[in-house]
Amino acid sequence: MKLDAIQAAESKLLLSTYERNPILFVRGEGVHLIDEKGDRYLDLLTGIGVNALGYSHPAIEQTIAEQSKKLIHTSNLFFHEGQAELALRLTERSGMDRAFFCNSGTEAIEAALKLSRAHAGAKRSEGKHLGTKFLALEHGFHGRTMGSVAATHKEKYREPFAPVMPDVEFVRFNDVADLEAKFSSDVCAVLIEAVQGEGGIHPVSQEFMQTARDLTHSTGALLIVDEIQAGLGRTGKWFAYQHYGIQPDVTTLAKPIAGGLPLGAMLCTEEAAQAIHPGMHGTTFGGGPLACAVAIAVIDTIEKEHLLDHINEVGSYFHQKLEQLQKKHSAITEVRGLGLMLAAELDSAELAKTVLAEMLKRRILINRTSETVLRFLPPYILGKEHIDEAIDALDTILTQQGPATAGEQAHHTKGGTHIG
Ligand SMILES: Cc1ncc(COP(=O)(O)O)c(C=O)c1O
Repeated sequence: MKLDAIQAAESKLLLSTYERNPILFVRGEGVHLIDEKGDRYLDLLTGIGVNALGYSHPAIEQTIAEQSKKLIHTSNLFFHEGQAELALRLTERSGMDRAFFCNSGTEAIEAALKLSRAHAGAKRSEGKHLGTKFLALEHGFHGRTMGSVAATHKEKYREPFAPVMPDVEFVRFNDVADLEAKFSSDVCAVLIEAVQGEGGIHPVSQEFMQTARDLTHSTGALLIVDEIQAGLGRTGKWFAYQHYGIQPDVTTLAKPIAGGLPLGAMLCTEEAAQAIHPGMHGTTFGGGPLACAVAIAVIDTIEKEHLLDHINEVGSYFHQKLEQLQKKHSAITEVRGLGLMLAAELDSAELAKTVLAEMLKRRILINRTSETVLRFLPPYILGKEHIDEAIDALDTILTQQGPATAGEQAHHTKGGTHIG
């Protein structure tokens, strides 16, 4: 089918959840996506932070080919070779003790929320007071299912589906006093993205993270760090919380973990894990042999190809280049991020929209979040030459657009766009 026929068919047949760009991708190679006309696009978005090793990576291709001939699915009623091996790799790198595998980010969050409630219940049965309330952060994003969306700040995601899970209170971003005021023994868990992704690439402050750790330690509540976008190397460390020198009780992973196959994981401490017993939680597909085999290959490839060092090197090059661009173009109000999770905030939503469209015309894929923020989530195998190409394009576009017109002012309290 051609693009226009697909568009027509989808508009009749699919639930209208997405506003897709009119491009039909048919394959990918390295850092490039290729459309049905053979045009190549430099992909600095990687399917919203998923295709960390780029496209057609031999390690992924080979693993899928071999594993698909052996076993794709068994359910969680039986053993297979992959889960323990993958759990070992993840627990060693995260400092956690146990893993639960599922199929997506939002499911990993659901597992973390359920674990927190069960953990608090277990504490109550030992005579300790630990309530059922969650604290989450303003501008945080944790997914679309009823629990995750309840912990997601933006009202437009929650309101049409009300009532979502009750007992979530939002804390002002990086506001330590607000966190202290809202925290009590009624709280069973505090949920934080170390670097807010959909919220516009905002790292939480060291003081805020440390306070969250100290408060949760003081009552026995769980600290959950959502690493679905920032985790597994993207920020230059395996886990973004490792930049803070703290160890959470629970962390969640998904996007890049299985090279584009659906897989999510919740990792937790032995103490938290004690709250879950057979039958309390589970999934049919989660942690299947194919997804686990690919995830093992992804982790081993990141290690073998020294990609964490590479991310740090090209990430700081990209950051510097964006800062140089900021000096030249006053329309860039801030450059933020860690490793290859980067953002350039512009002074108007209109300009950000135009820049995105112009980048697309030049066949460079980025996206816009929180209205005014250009977000870069490129593959870990990105080269400096690709960064130069993107920076040159941005420079040309911003020069053509001239000084920013008085538009919507960039601010972290503004609404935004989530396309995932
Ligand atoms: C930090 C964070 N948590 C959770 C999710 C939800 O993940 P999924 O879309 O796989 O359900 C996302 C997705 O963007 C995310 O960025």
